[in-house]
Amino acid sequence: MLIRYETLVDLDAIHDLTSTAFKPMPYSDGTEAEIVRRLRAAGDLKISLVAEQDGEIVGHVAFSPVTIDGAHDGWFGLGPISVKPERQRQGIGKALIARGLELLKERGASGCALIGNPEIYSRVGFSSDGQLKYLDLDTRLVQRIVFRGPPPSGMLQFAPAFES
Ligand SMILES: CC(C)(COP(=O)(O)OP(=O)(O)OC[C@H]1O[C@@H](n2cnc3c(N)ncnc32)[C@H](O)[C@@H]1OP(=O)(O)O)[C@@H](O)C(=O)NCCC(=O)NCCS
Repeated sequence: MLIRYETLVDLDAIHDLTSTAFKPMPYSDGTEAEIVRRLRAAGDLKISLVAEQDGEIVGHVAFSPVTIDGAHDGWFGLGPISVKPERQRQGIGKALIARGLELLKERGASGCALIGNPEIYSRVGFSSDGQLKYLDLDTRLVQRIVFRGPPPSGMLQFAPAFES
């Protein structure tokens, strides 16, 4: 399996994969594929990686800038992330995240935050100390990994693409 940056020819496959992966999820509002497109159009898709196997895109992850209490301070958000349903639980998500975090670190990021299932993201180094918040969500779902500087506290806000 190859983890690499997206290229122009991947865009439709990323869109279809994201729609398919999120479709069965009870927390999905069906906008995730469109969020990826909007991030890209706004120039906020800072890292977009695909997992390719036998010429097929089987996974994708997006990273975009976030703010915490209104300040960017080198923080990024992970997501949407999608793995082809038949290929889930085989380490593809983990490999995409590991490579993305490595690239963020290389670029001097302070850290990365996300909203998601702690059972999954604790396996790749994310955790919550309750200090990072997102709307009125249970803070256990608001997780982060710190590369440098103090652990963040305050209200997390994602790029505008997540809101429209
Ligand atoms: C979430 C998602 C990207 C994970 O990708 P994946 O390739 O299936 O994940 P991995 O196989 O790399 O697993 C990573 C770790 O999380 C664990 N894990 C994965 N899915 C899990 C689940 N549903 N429940 C509990 N643990 C889970 C794995 O056991 C693994 O830990 P380990 O390496 O210690 O065994 C994938 O399930 C997906 O596309 N889901 C649909 C879209 C979605 O919900 N995206 C995320 C929204 S927050």
